Order: sequence, then structure tokens, then C-alpha cells
Amino acid sequence: MPCENVATPHTPSAKFDLRLIPLEEGADLRRRVLRPGIPGWEFPFHPTSDFFHMGAFRCGRLVSVVSFLTEPMKDDSKDEGRTWRLRGMATELKQQRRGIGGQLLEGGLAEVIARNGTRVWCYGRTSVEAFYLGYGFRALGNAFDITGVGLHALYVRDLTRRL
Ligand SMILES: CC(C)(COP(=O)(O)OP(=O)(O)OC[C@H]1O[C@@H](n2cnc3c(N)ncnc32)[C@H](O)[C@@H]1OP(=O)(O)O)[C@@H](O)C(=O)NCCC(=O)NCCS
Repeated sequence: MPCENVATPHTPSAKFDLRLIPLEEGADLRRRVLRPGIPGWEFPFHPTSDFFHMGAFRCGRLVSVVSFLTEPMKDDSKDEGRTWRLRGMATELKQQRRGIGGQLLEGGLAEVIARNGTRVWCYGRTSVEAFYLGYGFRALGNAFDITGVGLHALYVRDLTRRL
């Protein structure tokens, strides 16, 4: 069976691989999924400390991407560098709801733990809140609008607690 046609929505995807990637490798996928109406959009990512980008590949093609960097949560003066922020998560439109993003998120969280991270947060789109809640994140505070993108909320996952 051809690689591209193995999975259908809501069925498990064919085998895929997770690996660390450079920022540039995820640029096109992010542009198409996160800002479809803005062809020249560049994902703003300027870390000043530890970070990594991870991708899920199916049939050798990048189908999902996520980035993490160490960044304290707003107003957290006690942070000891073990808090990480998740950014720019995107799965290829035709590959969504096949479990790929979830596996990539788990892979990213495992990498954060390997780098001694204890907590992960993000400003996630409320349109995919079920995704974050399904992977142990809690929503904190009120939703807020990012013009042209939609409602977002703060989601936090404590990595020291088992789900
Ligand atoms: C959010 C996103 C990365 C998830 O990737 P994915 O590969 O589709 O995720 P999964 O298939 O592993 O989803 C796992 C579960 O999360 C939940 N979920 C995922 N996407 C969802 C959505 N759009 N609406 C509601 N629940 C969703 C479901 O419970 C899903 O399980 P199910 O399909 O068995 O019901 C992907 O939908 C995406 O790229 N969306 C557009 C960009 C975006 O919103 N990125 C997040 C920016 S904050």
C-alpha cells in the first residue's frame, strides 16, 4: 500500500519517527499550518538559553513540529531554570487527528525531562484545548485574543506528577 494512503482520519497513522531538527526544517510546515494566509511569515523564535526543535516524520516527510525553550512563567521570580515553554506546535492538516501530534508532544516532554525540566507551559489556542488537556496540561487564567489568530489561554503541565 502506498505510504501516503495508509491512514485515514481517526485511525492510527502508519509508523512515524521522532527526531530533533533544526529550526529551518519546520519553517514551511509552520507557515502553512499556523499562518496559512501569510506566505512570508517567519516563526519568531529567539531563545537565550537551552532549546530544541523536534519533528515527527512519516514516510520520510516532516508531518508535525514542536519547539521547546527554557523560559519562566510570567511573574515567577522563583524559577530555577527548570521551566520550559512549548511553542509553535503544528501538524500537517491532512495528518491531523491520527495521534502524531500527541506522540510528538510526549517525545518533546520526555526530552524536557531528560534536560531536567519539571514544568512546561504554553499559550495555546483554545480551539485545540482538548489536545492540551488530554496530555495533562491545566488551563490557568482567562482566555485572551491574539489578533488574527484567535483565542489563547495559558496551559501548564507539572512534569513531576504522574498523570
Ligand atoms: C493541535 C495539533 C498540533 C494536534 O496535532 P494532531 O496530530 O492532530 O494531534 P493528535 O492526533 O495526536 O490528537 C490527540 C488528541 O488531542 C485532541 N485533539 C487534537 N486536535 C484537536 C482539535 N482540533 N480539536 C479538538 N481536539 C483535538 C483529541 O482528543 C485527539 O484525540 P482523538 O483524535 O482521538 O479525538 C494540530 O491539530 C494542529 O496543528 N492544529 C493547528 C495548529 C494549532 O492549533 N497548533 C497549536 C497552536 S497553540
